[in-house]
Amino acid sequence: MKNSETAIEFNQISKFYPGVKALSNIKFSIQWGTIVGLAGENGSGKSTLLKLLTGIEKADEGEVKVRNKPIHSIKDSIQQKISMVTQEPSLVDELSIAENVIVNQPGKWILNWKEKEQKTDYYLQKLGLNLNVKSKAGSLSPDQQQLVSIARALSTEPDILLLDEATSSLTDDQTELVLNLLKEFKGNNKIVIFISHKLKEYLKICDEIIVLRDSDYICKLVPPDWTEEIVISSMVGRELTNLYPMKRTMKDSEKMLSIENLKMNNSISKPLNVDIKTGEIFVFSGLVGCGRSEILRALIGEVDFVGDIQLAGKPYPVKNTVDAFKKGITLIPAERKSEGIVGHLSVYENAILGIRSKKSLFGLIKRKDELKIVHKIIEDLGVKTASVHTPIENLSGGNQQKVILGKAISIGPKVLLLDEPTRGIDVGAKAEIYHLLRKLSEEGLTVIISSSDLQEVIGVADRVGVMFRGELKTILTEKDVTEENIMYYATGND
Ligand SMILES: Nc1ncnc2c1ncn2[C@@H]1O[C@H](COP(=O)(O)OP(=O)(O)O)[C@@H](O)[C@H]1O
Ligand SMILES: [Mg+2]
Repeated sequence: MKNSETAIEFNQISKFYPGVKALSNIKFSIQWGTIVGLAGENGSGKSTLLKLLTGIEKADEGEVKVRNKPIHSIKDSIQQKISMVTQEPSLVDELSIAENVIVNQPGKWILNWKEKEQKTDYYLQKLGLNLNVKSKAGSLSPDQQQLVSIARALSTEPDILLLDEATSSLTDDQTELVLNLLKEFKGNNKIVIFISHKLKEYLKICDEIIVLRDSDYICKLVPPDWTEEIVISSMVGRELTNLYPMKRTMKDSEKMLSIENLKMNNSISKPLNVDIKTGEIFVFSGLVGCGRSEILRALIGEVDFVGDIQLAGKPYPVKNTVDAFKKGITLIPAERKSEGIVGHLSVYENAILGIRSKKSLFGLIKRKDELKIVHKIIEDLGVKTASVHTPIENLSGGNQQKVILGKAISIGPKVLLLDEPTRGIDVGAKAEIYHLLRKLSEEGLTVIISSSDLQEVIGVADRVGVMFRGELKTILTEKDVTEENIMYYATGND
C-alpha cells in the first residue's frame, strides 16, 4: 500500500430519495493515510455519502470504488475492511457491552467468551472506559454508549474508519482522547472519514476537509488556508460573520425570577442565590454533571428542591411541569428526539401541542385558528418543511428545534428555559436560533439556558453563572465572560 495510491474514489455519484436529491454528481478521491473531514450543514448529504461506502445505500448514478473495486453491497464493504460509527445510536440495549462489540467481529466464531470479553475490554480501555463488559448496553449513559460504538468499530480492525457525528455526546476530555486515537490510527496508512458538528475538531485532526452543500461537492480545503470562517462560509454559501447577535448592555430591568437558598434534592453543596432580570439571557455553564440542567428541571418541578423562588414578584411554589407551564415557565429539553418532539407526528401536530394544552385549560380552539398559528410559527421562525403535514422526524435537527421553539413561544411564557439549545444543529440554523432568542429577549422574554458549548455561552449570554459540583461559583458579565474565566470557575477555583 503506497501512500499515493488512490484508496477511495467517488465517481460522479448521484443519489435520490423519494422527492429529495441527497447527492448530485459527487466526484473526489481519497489517499491512504489521511483523515478527511466531511463538512456541510444538516441535510447536505454527508451521512448518505458514508452509507454508500458501507453498501447500506446504493448510488443511483456513478460508482464508489475502494482499491479500484466497486462497492455494491455490505459484503463488498466488509471485504474492503470498512467500518462505520453511525449517527444514530446503534447498540442493542438488551445485549451486554461485549455482545454488542463482538457482533461484527471477523473471526468471532473462533473466540470463546472469555477471549471475546478480553478483546472487548482491551478496546474499552483504549477509549478510557472502565466498565464491566457484561453490563447491558441499555444501562450506559449516552457518552459511554458512543464510546462503546467507537470501540466496536475499532475492534473490527478496519482499514477505513467512518465516524458520523460520533463525538456529539462526548465531554471535551473524551473527545480529545478519541481524536488522538484517530491520529494514531491514520498513522498506520489507514483512512478516517470524520463528520462532526464541532468545526474545531476538524481543524484539530483533519488533513483535508471536503465541503458539501445542498447535495453538491463545493470544495476541498487544506491547511493552511482554512479557518473556521472559511469552512463555515463554504458550508452555508454566504459570509457568516454574525453567527452570534451583537453584544449589548443590559438595561436595568425588574427582577423576573428570584432564586434564594435553592438546594436540589440531596445536594450537599452551598445553596444557590441568583436574581434573573426581565428580558435577560442568563446562561448556566459548567462541566458535565455540575448541576446546570438540574436547575432548569427544578424550575419546572421535575427535580425536588428546597428554597424560595419568586416569579415576577410572587412566590412560585411549583408542583410539576403543567403547573410551571400554567404559571409561565416552560422548558425546551436537551433530548430533542425523546422529549422534544413526537417524531411520527406532523409539523402541524407538534407545533400546535402548546396552544392545545393551554386552550384545554381555558377553552377550545378552532381548526382554522390552529392552522393560522402553525403557519405563523413556520413563517416567523423560518422553518424549512415541504408541508405542515410532513412528519417532523423528516426535518433537519435545526428545523425540528425551530418548531419546538415556536410551540413554546406560541403560549407566551414569561420565562423560557433551554437545555443545550443547539446540540446537533448546523451552523446556519444555530445563527437563526441565537438571533431569535435575542429578539425575544428584547421583547421582554426572560431566557435561561444551560449549555456545554463554550462558544455558545460566550456568544449569547448577557450573564453567565458558572457551576461546579452543584454550586454557583460565580456570575460573569460583559468583558469577564471569557473562555479562561469560565474554565477557571468551572474547574472548582474560587
Ligand atoms: N432514508 C431517507 N429517506 C428519505 N430522505 C432521506 C433519507 N436519508 C436522507 N434523506 C434526505 O437526503 C438529504 C441528505 O441527508 P443526509 O445525508 O442525512 O445529510 P447530512 O448527514 O449531511 O445531514 C436530506 O435532504 C435528507 O432529508
Ligand atoms: Mg448526517
